This record gives sequence, structure tokens and C-alpha cells, in this order.
Amino acid sequence: MSQNRNEPFAAVDIIGIKREGGVLSGEQIRWVVDAFTRGYVAPEQMSALAMAILLNGCDRREIRDLTLAMVDSGERLDFSGLGKPTTDKHSTGGVGDKTTLPLMPLVASFGVAVPQLSGRGLGHTGGTLDKLEAIPGWRADLTREEMFAALREVGGVVCAATAELAPADRELYRLRDATGTVRSIPLIASSIMSKKIAEGTGALVLDVKFGAGAFMVGRADARELARTMVELGTDAGVSTRALLTRMDSPLGLAIGNANEVREAVEVLAGGGPADVRELVLELAREMLSAAGRDGEDVAAALDDGRAMDRWRRAVRAQGGDPDAPLARAPERHEVRAARDGILTRQDALAFGLAAWRLGAGRARAQDPVLHDVGIDLAAKPGDAVRTGDLLFTLSARSEDRFPAALEALQNAWDISPVGTNYRAEPLIAERLA
Ligand code: URA
Repeated sequence: MSQNRNEPFAAVDIIGIKREGGVLSGEQIRWVVDAFTRGYVAPEQMSALAMAILLNGCDRREIRDLTLAMVDSGERLDFSGLGKPTTDKHSTGGVGDKTTLPLMPLVASFGVAVPQLSGRGLGHTGGTLDKLEAIPGWRADLTREEMFAALREVGGVVCAATAELAPADRELYRLRDATGTVRSIPLIASSIMSKKIAEGTGALVLDVKFGAGAFMVGRADARELARTMVELGTDAGVSTRALLTRMDSPLGLAIGNANEVREAVEVLAGGGPADVRELVLELAREMLSAAGRDGEDVAAALDDGRAMDRWRRAVRAQGGDPDAPLARAPERHEVRAARDGILTRQDALAFGLAAWRLGAGRARAQDPVLHDVGIDLAAKPGDAVRTGDLLFTLSARSEDRFPAALEALQNAWDISPVGTNYRAEPLIAERLA
């Protein structure tokens, strides 16, 4: 294809450089992202470039240029007028991961603003906005003015990212999803960090998960993704750190939407499952520390009602009623232990997939989610169980949803003989700063 006289490069040449394992200049990267955003570089060309990057990788400078070019494709928010530090958390996605819900009010209760611009769930991992929309009246789609008002008055907000933030990433992600080019560390890192840098947060904590239910199954890949993102954030002036956390089994006991909100509220009341509380406390300490507030007693704010008070204000600020009962689907299916022993495995991916098949998640971005369905675990790895003990309960709107969910759960857990020595691996495996 010949080159347009008004354009400095031809997309096909840029694809060719990456296809042959070459390195793209900053000018070439900035041009291709800008030309793609303008519609001059065609979707099929950008998809081919994504595949060449997936196969041949990018060096650190190329990843930084790609990230900043995607930031520059849209607007950048500026929170300097708030007069207080800002901090945010991003999770690479897990099953039963509801930590954002308690974290936002918990951290905000220390006077550090939390602008959480979140996404919706796709596939087996749930999305924070979907969970919060289980609260009657709660709205994710805030205007700019409403978002800033919530940050000023409550100190925290969880809302949908606007179309103006990193639009090149939004379009590229859509292509990657359709062309098998999501699983590339340079593309994932630049995608996540372009949105977070454009969001304008001053500090950022990344919860990079690894294990059966994680995006990155292997720990080494998760570490490389975490390191790449920490470098991108730091280079862009965002105080960034990462925790590598295990996602072999679901986090907490609830997998779904309304039931995850219920569990998050238990954590805000000073209770909740030990693993959820542990991760919330550690992420809160990191979020505060990254914003320059070391050594805060975050556990006290969960236990004395400060975080709960902030949660109730935050829910109301977004139109929700914190006292409204959360819906529960009418049909139940209980699964019980077939033998005595120790529960030694509970496969996060299988449980995520089963919840999705019950209707808790979506297959396509435009699909609705059912807020009242999901899975409630009654036992966690390490627990001793007797024959007939409840392992978990599926909830659905109609019984015909159960067979497909149960099929996903075949071979999803192990009960090892009584006396098996089960040693839990630490939930938080590594910290990178
Ligand atoms: N989440 C993102 O925002 N981008 C990716 O590429 C993968 C996960």
C-alpha cells in the first residue's frame, strides 16, 4: 500500500518492523496510535500490529511510548484542585474479589481521596460497577461535576470511566478481545496504565493476581506484568507499587454481585472472611503509604465504624440506599461433601465460570448481568468437612441454570483424606515498589 503524502509513515511499514522483531521509534508509535484514533489506521492494521507485538514483544521504551500515546489520545483528569492527595487501586481481576468496595471508604476515611474509575466485568471475573449496581438506586454513570462533588464531599467515588479517557485503548482493547491478542504483557501493561495515568491519580496500588483464576496464571508472568506497570506509573510521576496475590481459590465466600456487596459490608462492619479482611487491610496500608501516609491504623477504622460511616455516605452520594435489602435469587442448589476429609483445592476459574453461567457475569460488553444470582461458599481450602456437610450453594432465577453451572464445577475441588496436612500459601506473595 502506498503512503499518503500527508502522513509521515505507512501503517504497513510499522507492522512490518514489529513482525520482523524490530524496535519502533517513539515517533512511529505516537503516529500509529494517533492515526488509529483518527480512523486513518484501519482496525485490521492495528490488529495485525497487536499480534506482532504479542509475538515479538516490546522493549521498555516502546511500552512507555505506547502507554503515553494512548494517554494522549484523550483527556487527562486533574485532581489538584481537591487540595488533598489522591490514591487508587487496580486489580487485574479475580473471582470473588470485592476489595474495592470496602477499600474506597476505608482509605477515604483517612482524608486521602480515592477516585476509582472502574470497569465492568467480562468473562469469569466480576466487575466492581456490576457489584455496586446491585444496591438499589446506585449509579455508576456520574457526570464530571457529580464525580468531583463526591470526591470533595465524601472523599471517594467509584464510577465508570468516561469515553474521553484513553479512547485509543478502549478501541484497541475491543480489537484485541476479538483477535486473540489480549495476553501480551506490553499490551496489558500499557492498556491498564494508560487509563490510570489519564485518570490523574497521584498514587496507585496494583493488585496483580496469579493462579488458577487469574488473568496471569504463572507467578513469573504476574511479576513481570507488575514490574512493567510499576515502572510505567513511576516514570509518569504516579507513586506506584504492586502486590502479587494468589488467586487459586475464590476470595472470601461470596461470588456474584449482591452477595459480594453483602460480604463487603460485613468487612466494613469489622467482620467478614479473614482473607478478604487481610487483603483489604494490606491494600489500604499500601494505598495510604503510596500517598505519603505511612503507619495508619487501618484496622481500627474498620472496627470502630469510621469506614462504615464513609461507605454509607458514599453510597448515598451516588443515589444508592445503603439500608435497602439486597436481592436474592429464588432458586437454590446445595452441594455437599461426598466424604470426610480436608478441602484442599477449590478452583477459582471453575467457580468464576459457574457464577457466570448462573448469570452473574456477561459474555459481551452490552449484556446485562443478574445481580441476585451467584455462589455462596460454606467451606474454604484447609477446612475439615464431614460427609453431607454443605460445601456451597448456587442461587439462580430458574432451575434450568443449574446444570451448566454444575458442569463447570466438575473436578473443581478436592477433599483429601482426614489427617492430610494442608499448608495454606500466603495470600499476599510479593510486594514490588
Ligand atoms: N485490563 C485492561 O484494562 N486491559 C488489558 O489489556 C487487560 C486487562
